[in-house]
Amino acid sequence: MAKTSQFKAYDLRRKKLHTISSPPVKLTQSRLERGEWAAATKASASATTRPSKVTKKRGRFSKKAATKKPPQRAADLMRCAASDEIECLHCNKPGDDQTCGVSCYREFKKQHFVGKQIDIRGPGPMGYGAYTKPGVSIENGQYLDEYIGDLRPLKSYESSSSLYCFVIPQTCVVDAEKAGNWTRFVNSSCKPNVKPWADFVGKRHVIVFQALKDIGPEEEIVFDYGKAYFEKAGFECACDAHDRRHLPGQNEPKAKKAGSRR
Ligand SMILES: C[S@@+](CC[C@H](N)C(=O)[O-])C[C@H]1O[C@@H](n2cnc3c(N)ncnc32)[C@H](O)[C@@H]1O
Ligand SMILES: [Zn+2]
Ligand SMILES: [Zn+2]
Repeated sequence: MAKTSQFKAYDLRRKKLHTISSPPVKLTQSRLERGEWAAATKASASATTRPSKVTKKRGRFSKKAATKKPPQRAADLMRCAASDEIECLHCNKPGDDQTCGVSCYREFKKQHFVGKQIDIRGPGPMGYGAYTKPGVSIENGQYLDEYIGDLRPLKSYESSSSLYCFVIPQTCVVDAEKAGNWTRFVNSSCKPNVKPWADFVGKRHVIVFQALKDIGPEEEIVFDYGKAYFEKAGFECACDAHDRRHLPGQNEPKAKKAGSRR
């Protein structure tokens, strides 16, 4: 069972640490709702018209519907098949290597993740945001953390109104609307300093944030959500790359400061 506690943030108006009102649940690892997965697995089994398993019975072939079991734990869902088509970010070995596994995941987290060096600050024009703490620097290329949350069936994404979703293709949606870690507070900017990747560590699917440049103390961590996010959400990007609200990819240069025009 994932451990939970409350998020604390520096209140920008009062300049002091406070507990976020109506806070999301603070998780240390992703979680899933078993009932939701049981229902989704049942629905997809009954929607399957063509049985995927054919067994030989009493000399004749009989068709037997696939008996897919719903995942019981987040780890079941995130585990990927041992295949040489994937490579572990920690040991760089192919995913069918016997020595690669849960210890790679544990070590990768220990060596790279910076959660304790991040402050949540806000609320500002984009709500709360994630910042490096005073005195903390992050090097270009460093992996910062994993995006975690509630793991939902892929089908739920189309009808979801959550603005905190990442899709792991053919696997699930990671939705941090109600629960997550500090990465759920990472806002969008058209001048990003990190990038999220869907990758593999120790035979597990992960979404990891990697620094795109050196990041200094008290800098906001931001990535580019992309145009499709804002179109689905129905509002425009408020980052400071432009003077007005805009969609990512719009190439309008920021106007020069008043007084420096002529
Ligand atoms: C993943 S959350 C980021 C954390 C959020 N600021 C909070 O306080 O919970 C995404 C939401 O933050 C806000 N946001 C993030 N980046 C933004 C941007 N560039 N422009 C406008 N709103 C933004 C929007 O409300 C968006 O739906
Ligand atoms: Zn490995
Ligand atoms: Zn922007």
